[in-house]
Amino acid sequence: MRQVAILISGSGSNMAALIDDMARPGHPARPVLVVSSEPGAAGIARAEAAGVPAVALDHRAFAQRSEFEAALQARLEAAGADLLCLAGFMRILSGSFVERWRGRALNIHPSLLPRYPGLDTHARALAAGDREAGCTVHELTPELDAGPILGQARVPVLPDDTAAALAARVLRAEHRLYPAVLRRFAAGDRRPVLLSFPED
Ligand code: GRF
Repeated sequence: MRQVAILISGSGSNMAALIDDMARPGHPARPVLVVSSEPGAAGIARAEAAGVPAVALDHRAFAQRSEFEAALQARLEAAGADLLCLAGFMRILSGSFVERWRGRALNIHPSLLPRYPGLDTHARALAAGDREAGCTVHELTPELDAGPILGQARVPVLPDDTAAALAARVLRAEHRLYPAVLRRFAAGDRRPVLLSFPED
């Protein structure tokens, strides 16, 4: 049984989707901790409501990134975590931290990588006139948004889409993709999960 820690910074809707799926029988992983880099994140209350211990590590309370990461690592070890799921975690983690978790850390990104690493992915897809968009779950590596792809979900871009409308459609796909990838990854299966939601 893998022991999953979920790192968040905001609403935690992906975190909630992961926790809900892990609650179903036969899942090869269970949530042991939620860590938020933002003390006021709504995801903290969501985690506690789901019965998962949650802690805020305000990154502003640490003078150095290394001190923040040392505190994070201590919490993860105390909780017995052996698999990390970043879900809207908005802090850059150092290469040394990522190397320590190499092969045991996942991230979800709201674009069809390698297209649109970084921020503002939906506005960039619309500006480029893309007819499809989506999300990617990848292994965490020191390079931002660039690790081995473990899953992707495709959604249509509609003619009158705003960035907000596209973001909402992609987020719905994220909530289906991430749990499917975690379930497969935690079972030791590295085959990518490829989903498509043409009608959404
Ligand atoms: C998601 O769109 C995710 O792709 C991006 O940040 C957002 C997190 O949303 N990294 P939530 O906190 O899971 O609701």
